[in-house]
This record gives sequence, C-alpha cells and structure tokens, in this order.
Amino acid sequence: MTTQHSVKVVGSADKTVDCGAEQTLLDAFLRSGVYLPNSCNQGTCGTCKVKLCSGTVDQPAVSETVLSADDQASGFVLACQSSPTSDAEIEVPLDAGSGPAHPLRDLQGTVHEIRELAHDTVALSVGIDEPLSFSAGQYLEFVVPGSGQIRQYSMANPPSSADRLEFHVRRVPDGAATDRWIFDTLEPGDPIEMRGPWGDFVHGADTDAPMILLAGGTGLAPLKSIALEALDQTPDREIHLYHGVRHRGDLYDVDFWSELRESHPNVHYNPCVSREEWPGRSGYVGDAVVADFDSLRGYVAYLCGPPAMVEAGVKACKRRRMPGRHIHREKYTPAPVAEMTPA
Ligand code: FES
Repeated sequence: MTTQHSVKVVGSADKTVDCGAEQTLLDAFLRSGVYLPNSCNQGTCGTCKVKLCSGTVDQPAVSETVLSADDQASGFVLACQSSPTSDAEIEVPLDAGSGPAHPLRDLQGTVHEIRELAHDTVALSVGIDEPLSFSAGQYLEFVVPGSGQIRQYSMANPPSSADRLEFHVRRVPDGAATDRWIFDTLEPGDPIEMRGPWGDFVHGADTDAPMILLAGGTGLAPLKSIALEALDQTPDREIHLYHGVRHRGDLYDVDFWSELRESHPNVHYNPCVSREEWPGRSGYVGDAVVADFDSLRGYVAYLCGPPAMVEAGVKACKRRRMPGRHIHREKYTPAPVAEMTPA
C-alpha cells in the first residue's frame, strides 16, 4: 500500500488532504476539490509555488527561471513537482487568488468523431460516461498509449455540454501524440485515458464586460469554450474574436464563427493571416486590435497561443489602456515539450 502523508494549508483547517508518497501535492489537493494555483502541471510556469512551512518533500531540481534562488532558499516549492516524504504544512502566497475547484479526475473517454478542420488540424470529439465538471478555458491531459507520455489539450466545448468533449489537435511532424497516434491509428470507438481538469485560465463569469479574444492557432479551442459559455449566460455579450494564423490554409472553424456572427450581431469575428496576402485581414492579431480600438477601458481580454503572440497581444491591450488585471492569458509551447501545452 502506498504511504500516505497528511498535508495541510496553514490557517485553513478544512484544507487538509492525504497525499501519497508518489503523488504530487497539486494532484492531491485538486483531487480533493481544494484549489491550488496551477497552470502547466509540468514545472515550467511557477504558478503553483507554495511555501513549505513544515515537513519535507521530494522535488526534482527546479530552474531559477521558474523558482528564483531566493524563493528556493525561503522554502518555496512547486506543488506540481513535489511529493511529500512526511506530513507537511504549506502556505499559499496571498496574491495567488482563487480559482476553479472542480475535482481532478481520471477519465475514460471514447472517441466519437475525428473531423478534419484544416489541412493539419482536426476536431477530436470524445464521449465520457460521467459528465465532467470544468470551467471554460481548462484543459485535460491525455495519456499517449504505449509511450508513457502526456499531452495537454483544452476543451473547446462549453461546460454545459460536459459529456461530449471537443479538442482541437494540430499535427506535429513525427509527434508521438499526433503523427503517430491521433492522425494515424486513432479511430471512432477507441478508448482514451485522460485526467483533469487543470489550469487557472478560465472564464471569469462575474462580469458582462465586452470581451476581446486573441487566439493563435489551436489556442482558439479554449477561447471557443469561453465565448460559448459567455453567450450562454448573456446572449448579447459583445465579443471580438481575433484568430491569428500564418497561412490562409491554417484557418479553421471559419464556418462555425461566421454562423455565430450571423446569429449574434454582437459577435465580431476577425481571422488574421500573418504570412501571406489574402482577401481578408493580413497581419498580427495584436496589431489588428490596436487598429480597431482607440480605448479598451471597460473590456476584458483572454489570450491563448504561442508565447510571442500572447506577449504581443498583452502589449496591444495595455497600449489601448486595458488594466493588467483584466487581461487573462495562456501560453503554449509546441512539441516536443508538449503538443498543446498551457504554461
Ligand atoms: S510549474 Fe507547477 S503548474 Fe506550472
């Protein structure tokens, strides 16, 4: 039987969980439905840092770019990388805020459909037996059969359709999860092992403020979930989506967004192509936002895509006077680190 240790959040008697010696602190807390800040779950973003106040943990070496030397000397650890070796107490930084507390689960899914969206991108529709409780913007981890590897994909469906999940998967040449599995052998009816939900990049459902959505490539997936949830709650919510891709052929879900724009005049869809001229809009999504708005005061923004796109998009929003607290972002890095890795 696996050794269990009791881990407690200092000052919160109700936040005490049992954590296996082979389990990470983050996994144990989220499985118990207790929120801890988290994003990448692979030790690269630093979002999950907590202070170890008593007890001991095992943690692989952590880069100082993720957890500074000062933080490490002060006893901070990464909850997604640390496993307890004794009972322990942790403190969550005050500025960590609050977030979704949907219990983390192991899920067995069944492929319902694999639909081509673009020349190198598919929509993977997966049925699950028991509806998944999650927040729009979160992601699941897929276990790649036979490789022991994990890949992360965000849900593109809104939380209201919780028993049929949609993911957008872009092919990565020679990728273990894409070229050698999802685009090769995977078929409707096949099982998929998954776990989640993960991540703090979620729709803040407490505001009806007009919304700017900036997506790069398959970063569109979580923004689709966020947009659909926002429209479920407030059908006339003003939404401006900018979807950036390099080439025209990389655009996908164009019909979906065009139809949504037809049925909701408050939805504005702006596909942007950066590396070729075409009859539509050319250039980067951040530049398009700067060109379209004199001021973004009163707006909220959600950005998801490659790091350079997200950073440029954040600058564009700030340049148009959007306060930083209204800007929500998720960066992903391409394979081989992960084929769609929120970070
Ligand atoms: S480093 Fe732990 S969630 Fe990113």
